Amino acid sequence: MHKTIAILPGDGIGPEIMRQAVKVLDAIAAKYSHEFEYRYADVGACAIDKTGNPYPEETHEICTKSDSVLFGAIGDPKYDNDPAAKVRPEQGLLAMRKALGLFANIRPVKPYPSLLSASPLKDSIVDGADFIVVRELTGGMYFGEPRGRNEAGNKAFDTCVYSKEEIERVADVAFAYASRRRGHVTLVDKANVLATSRLWRETVKALHERKYGDMRLDFLFVDNAAMKMVSNPRDFDVILTENMFGDILSDLAGVINGSIGLLPSASSGLERSLYEPIHGSYPQAAGKDIANPVATILSAAMMLEDAFGAAEEGADIRLACEKAIADGVCTPDIFPGSKYGTEATGDYIVKIIGNL
Ligand code: IPM
Ligand code: MN
Repeated sequence: MHKTIAILPGDGIGPEIMRQAVKVLDAIAAKYSHEFEYRYADVGACAIDKTGNPYPEETHEICTKSDSVLFGAIGDPKYDNDPAAKVRPEQGLLAMRKALGLFANIRPVKPYPSLLSASPLKDSIVDGADFIVVRELTGGMYFGEPRGRNEAGNKAFDTCVYSKEEIERVADVAFAYASRRRGHVTLVDKANVLATSRLWRETVKALHERKYGDMRLDFLFVDNAAMKMVSNPRDFDVILTENMFGDILSDLAGVINGSIGLLPSASSGLERSLYEPIHGSYPQAAGKDIANPVATILSAAMMLEDAFGAAEEGADIRLACEKAIADGVCTPDIFPGSKYGTEATGDYIVKIIGNL
């Protein structure tokens, strides 16, 4: 197959983890005689530095003209510590999600058997956990209007807004995943307090009755869901939730896997999807060759499987990552004191793919 892939390394550790994912894609292309044409573009702080815009028009065009998009990370401390900054790198990510219509973010969580001890949670809790978080990605408090400050500047407000249509389309995605898994969707909300959450509950309940009666739907308040996630994670199959709750819960889910550096994600769009690790730009590690490339490499695997229908190729990458970890080859976040850095981990995974 011939595919064009927009490559958006972004900030911090983005470029170095992305290099590993591209190496892995090259290994897959060589093995299966595919052609992957990469189109590099800037997003985030690096784009602000060059153009003043965190999601330049040129980047958007490259994304819309490619078959899929692989994205690294965004964010730079020089903006985090400057609340007065007019443009922020994160605006680039949000603008990109909105412009590409990426309304559903899928974050799978399944600990590696050989890595159970890397989680700060007891083995008996994380063993057998296997769930996905389906996070709504283009609505809620991240985008709701009005937002900002009053004139005096001493009050600030954000608005959480959801429409029935926005809820239904992401719920459809959650039920579609559940139908290929254990058929169980848990809607996480705060319906005891928030009007938007009550609309979520009402809408998802009606949709379930109308279209998905053969599956199990239950409801949890977000505070309770957070507690369950780290005490009984096996209770979950598909977690469906709104943007902000999904952001928070999916970082928490990283604890189950042992490192957030292992978790990939897919953001499904109206026309094309984007694949990205769930972690951020980890600026303290940038350029030090210690960042874990596995989340980005697994994001590339999700892209091959979901966007290109290349199941065997995706399975190769997953197997290679699993083998590398079982062999003790990965970065210090999961193997403290490891002599394998970002590059060496990527090289090892490439070597395994060649030998599969
Ligand atoms: C994520 C990140 C982003 C988010 C930030 C960088 C805007 O934390 O993808 O989870 O909050 O969505
Ligand atoms: Mn997040």
